[in-house]
This record gives sequence, C-alpha cells and structure tokens, in this order.
Amino acid sequence: MTDPHATPPTLRFPADFRWGTSTSAYQVEGSVRADGRGESIWDRFCAVPGAVENGDTGETACEQYERAGEDIALMAELGLGAHRFSLAWPRIVPDGTGPVERRGLDHYDRFLDTLLEHGITPLATLYHWDLPQPLQDRGGWRDRDTAARFADYAAVCYDAFGDRVRDWVTVNEPWIAGVLGHQLGLHAPGEKDLPGSVRAMHHLLLGHGLAAGALRAYGREDARAGIAYSLFPHTPASDSGEDRAAAYASDGYVNRWFLDPVHGRGYPDDMHAHWERAAGPLDFIEDGDLDTIAAGSDFIGVNYYTRRIVSARPAGGDGPGDGPWPWRVEPGRPEVARTDLGWEIVPDDLTALLLRLHEDYPGVPLAVTENGAVFNDTPGADGAVGADGAVHDERRIAFLQAHLAAVHRAMEAGAPVEGYYHWSLIDNFEWAMGYRPLFGLVHVDRATQRRTVKDSGHWYGRVARSGAVPG
Ligand code: NOJ
Repeated sequence: MTDPHATPPTLRFPADFRWGTSTSAYQVEGSVRADGRGESIWDRFCAVPGAVENGDTGETACEQYERAGEDIALMAELGLGAHRFSLAWPRIVPDGTGPVERRGLDHYDRFLDTLLEHGITPLATLYHWDLPQPLQDRGGWRDRDTAARFADYAAVCYDAFGDRVRDWVTVNEPWIAGVLGHQLGLHAPGEKDLPGSVRAMHHLLLGHGLAAGALRAYGREDARAGIAYSLFPHTPASDSGEDRAAAYASDGYVNRWFLDPVHGRGYPDDMHAHWERAAGPLDFIEDGDLDTIAAGSDFIGVNYYTRRIVSARPAGGDGPGDGPWPWRVEPGRPEVARTDLGWEIVPDDLTALLLRLHEDYPGVPLAVTENGAVFNDTPGADGAVGADGAVHDERRIAFLQAHLAAVHRAMEAGAPVEGYYHWSLIDNFEWAMGYRPLFGLVHVDRATQRRTVKDSGHWYGRVARSGAVPG
C-alpha cells in the first residue's frame, strides 16, 4: 500500500534546462508610434471595425516599450533564466525594406543588455506576425519577394544583436499566420483567400530558410535557428479506420506540412494532393525552394496548448469551419477539463508530441517555446487582484505542474527538451480576442498598468530557481 502521507516525488530537471517565459512585441510593447516605428498589418487590422473584440488594439498593450526595465527586473526577481521575446520588424526596418531605424535597434540593444545583466538568456523571435504594412501593400506573404525582404531584415538583426543572441526563432506559427490571417480573415491581414494562404505559408517557410541561411553567413558558429510551430496533437473521434485516416490527414494540414519540409522530408504527398484539389496547382514552389527551406533548422520550437479531435467528414457533409477538407474538427470531450477559453487540458498529449518529434526528426533539439492557459474572470481568485493584493490562480499552478511533469516524462523517455517558455510572462493583447483572455503569470491592471505577480508566477519562480517540480 502507498503511504498517503508520503511526500510526492520531486521531478528534477537538468541543471542547464532553460526556465523561461514567452511574449511577442505587438502583444506587449504598445508605443506603436514611438521612435520612428512604421505601421504594421496589426495596426491596420485593429482599426477595422469589428475585427478585434471590444475594439481593443495593441496601441497601449502592456507599455513594455517604456517599462522593459521593470518587466525584466520582475523576471529576475522570480528567478527566471531565459526569456523569449520578438523583435518588431516595423521598428527596425519601418518600411519593411530599405533604411534601418537606429532608434529601434537602440531599444532592443538596451532590452538585451538588461536581460543579460540580470542573467537571463534571450531567445529572439524575428517574426511574430507584425509585418510592415508597406510590404503588405505589395502583396505581403503571398508575394515571394517578402521572403527575401525578411532575410534582409534578419541579417540586420544578426549584425546588431548576434553577439548577444545565440538562438533565433525565425517565424512564429506559420500555420496560424497562414490560416487565420489569409484563409479565415480572423487575423491580420484579414484575407479570405484559400490559394493565397497556401502561397503565404510557403513563403513563410521560404523566409525561414533564407533567414537561417543568412545566420550561417553571419558566421557565429554556435548560432542556431528554428521555427516555433503551433503543434496540435490529433485524436481520432473513434477507433474506426475512417476517423483515424481523417485525423492523420488533418495532422498533415496542421503539423506535417511545416515540419516535414523544414526537416528535409519535403512537403507530405497526401497534403500536397489536398492543397492542389482545394487551391489549384502549387506552381509557386520553385526549384530549389525545398533545399532552401531544409537548409538550416537547429531546433524545433513547440507551441503547445491543446489537441484536435477529428472525425471523417460524411460524404457530401458539411460543418462549420471545416473548409474544403475531408475531415471535421469535433468539440472536446465533456469529461476533460478546460481552460476559460474552452481549450481541453491534455498534458499527456504534450509528452506524446515531444516523443513523436524525437522519433520523426531524430537528433533535433526541442524547446517548448509556448505553453499556457487562460484562467480569468473569478474576482479575487483568478484573473483579478483580490482584496489581499494577490491573484490566487490555483488552476494555472495545476496546469503548469501537469505540463511540466509531462515534459519531464518525455525527457525521461529520451526526448531532447532544452527548455520551457511559459506563455506568457504577463497578461497581454490576445490578438482578435483583445485583452479579455488572461494568459499571464503576472497580472496587469489595464487602467494603471500596475503589475502584480500571480501565485502561479511565484510558484513558477520557485521551480525555476530549484530546477525541480513538486510531484
Ligand atoms: C500562440 C501565439 O504565438 C501567441 O501570440 C498567442 O498569444 C498564444 N499562442 C496564445 O493564443
């Protein structure tokens, strides 16, 4: 019999495991007109009536452009050793191409120096969805030239910051950028153009490959480039052969379409055929593109939030949001707990995902570049600062504990996971949902911008400092 009073085992992580948080420029910085910053597609999109809930915009966000020192000091106080953030292309090359804005570079110089002074290792993302509007006016990611302009901008960043940044995420979540931005019109640039979305996704991958090549040319030997993918493990709705095939097909749409070419397997045939049926010939894929895309990926960034349950779509059937696909995304299971966004909480699938990546793309280091949850709207408990001056977000602590234990299990089974970056450090601008969903370890009072570390932030800090997760 197990002793009910026994202390649960502590899960120890390697001493060099990176404990960090994750943010992106448009979601936290604000100051959208400061220091010569150019317009981005998200500035333009937020101005479209009805595009973002409540008419929210990133104009103010968390004022981190002004308060970077305060936020970095908070990370250090918590004991975090790593931080993933993004560089805003429109601050550095305001027109997307051409002159470089010195004041934009200066800002990130200070940002990086401050991180390093506090012993925090940076992981810099080059593109987290804030494309300079002038490039959008020329076709944006649907246009092949944008990939080349992205590589130019990447080279500017390597020259400016490559002495202090070793690891680079080139592109964040190309599937979400392609599908939500170009197919469903839910994210900037708000397009509903199925063939255009396939082009955009190809050019995002090409941009990654060109930017990874530019990193080699920059010449820092230990520098590394990778993509942060939005990875959704798939669960077939039933054990039937049809549902299993549907789940595999949908996995091609969401996951394999990106992972396979970047890791040298080319575009998967099954999905290539789906795209051709749905969107016409993929004649924008030029000779040599797949070599460029596969040329330099040194790690896989895993953004994991939840799974997708998928069934075979009945012949001639239709369903909301299915698009032209032979599969259907099913609602989650009632017995599975959810976050306040309704996303199923499935930590075991993170273990399985990390092991699958290890098996399918052997030898490639992994990092959980995002994982987190929305828990809010319970005044005094979750989401709001209570009368005692604290935010008691017990559910976020349980979420963290379960997902870190899931990472630990994957590592014990051999997955080479180097770090975990919680999304997010701070409550921020959640794209088309505005400021309503709260993902942060730190609460921000929207009226005063005052920061309050939630109970989960204190808990995560203790984990980061000790390198161990209570079992
Ligand atoms: C994915 C995105 O990279 C990030 O910007 C977003 O806020 C989180 N997931 C949460 O949805």
